[in-house]
Amino acid sequence: MPNPECACAEKTRHLSLNGTRSLAPQRDLFDIPEEVCYLNCAYISPLLKSTVEAGKQGIERKSRPWEIRPSDFFSTAGEVRQMASSLLGSAPSDIAIVPSASYGLATAARNLPVQPGDNIVVLAEQYPSNFYIWERLAERSAATIRTVPRPLNGDWTSNVLEALDSKTAIAALPHCHWSDGTLVDLRQVRHRLDELRGALVVDLTQSLGAMRFNLDQIRPDFAVAAAYKWLLGPYSTGLLYVDPRHQRGEPLELPIFSRKNAADFSDIRYRTEFEPGACRYDVGEVANFALLPALLRALTQIVEWGIPAIETELAQRTHTIANSAKTLGLEVIDSKFRAPHFVGVRFPGGPPPGLAEHFRTENVYVGIRGNALRVTPYLYNTEEDLARFAQVLRATL
Ligand SMILES: Cc1ncc(COP(=O)(O)O)c(C=O)c1O
Repeated sequence: MPNPECACAEKTRHLSLNGTRSLAPQRDLFDIPEEVCYLNCAYISPLLKSTVEAGKQGIERKSRPWEIRPSDFFSTAGEVRQMASSLLGSAPSDIAIVPSASYGLATAARNLPVQPGDNIVVLAEQYPSNFYIWERLAERSAATIRTVPRPLNGDWTSNVLEALDSKTAIAALPHCHWSDGTLVDLRQVRHRLDELRGALVVDLTQSLGAMRFNLDQIRPDFAVAAAYKWLLGPYSTGLLYVDPRHQRGEPLELPIFSRKNAADFSDIRYRTEFEPGACRYDVGEVANFALLPALLRALTQIVEWGIPAIETELAQRTHTIANSAKTLGLEVIDSKFRAPHFVGVRFPGGPPPGLAEHFRTENVYVGIRGNALRVTPYLYNTEEDLARFAQVLRATL
């Protein structure tokens, strides 16, 4: 059935100057009170109204289990794989459904060989879900963690390339740093890893859905994204891309639905074979009747908007935010080193005390991560929101 909200988004599209479609603010699709200026999508995105509806219908289904058929254990998951693959540019069968980034990263860690004396490369202050598992793998394999120092100018890529060597078994990296959006050029990293025969694991939690990802050029061994930020999904849902060369590996769990002909509930024999593809890495109870329909609705909306159009819109908002901060004499990373949907603002001498509270009192929501004020807008933010942010920022100085 056509979705009326998608149809409405269709009407508001135009071609922008750089050829991507431009989108009008989509605030009406979210349940955000007028007085709330929410600029913290990198923390948790609000759900679309249509996603909440899909989730409600999903949870209600279990009031009527007699209506749930064996094929329902597979169909929504199949549609989620389809949508995820169109966001990533992969085949649907390359996608596993996972409950968190850490689950996907633990799957990657289980399936990549590391020898004594090898190193695993991570960024300084990388998100813990993409650090603890490698720390443990390094300990268990007599390997070392090699931490790339934070660059003063925002150029992680040069520092990462310098850290890679013939002993690099894995580079476990994000597309942009979660604390301030500083970018890693994953294409260059992949190129170097090809020469060194190292594996690339990417955490796209802070980027997939908001900025383009070129699968053909980056060719990660594994790529994961928790869905509750830029994919607008519910908490405890996520996507794992698995390169075909790792699709015969060892899953963390051995759930029944990944096995061949699992949909035949009347046949109670054990199955030894898995269905082909990445679904062997799915979390148990992958059908998750409450959350998967909600995730599907969110991914469908993102596919409908299109990532290039989202990226263009968010880049315009962050440009305005960055200019407001610069006008006040604050330091902002050069746009060529930061993701289009992030602004990290640094204060000379560190953030003023009580900064977060000050913003919150004014109903303006931003993040403070380390030394940076992290401002991450989305399509629901209007020009008024951006003006309010600038006003409140000025008042904190
Ligand atoms: C870069 C990054 N990765 C992963 C996560 C979430 O990890 P998990 O799903 O394991 O809780 C976050 C949450 O802020 C994040 O910023």
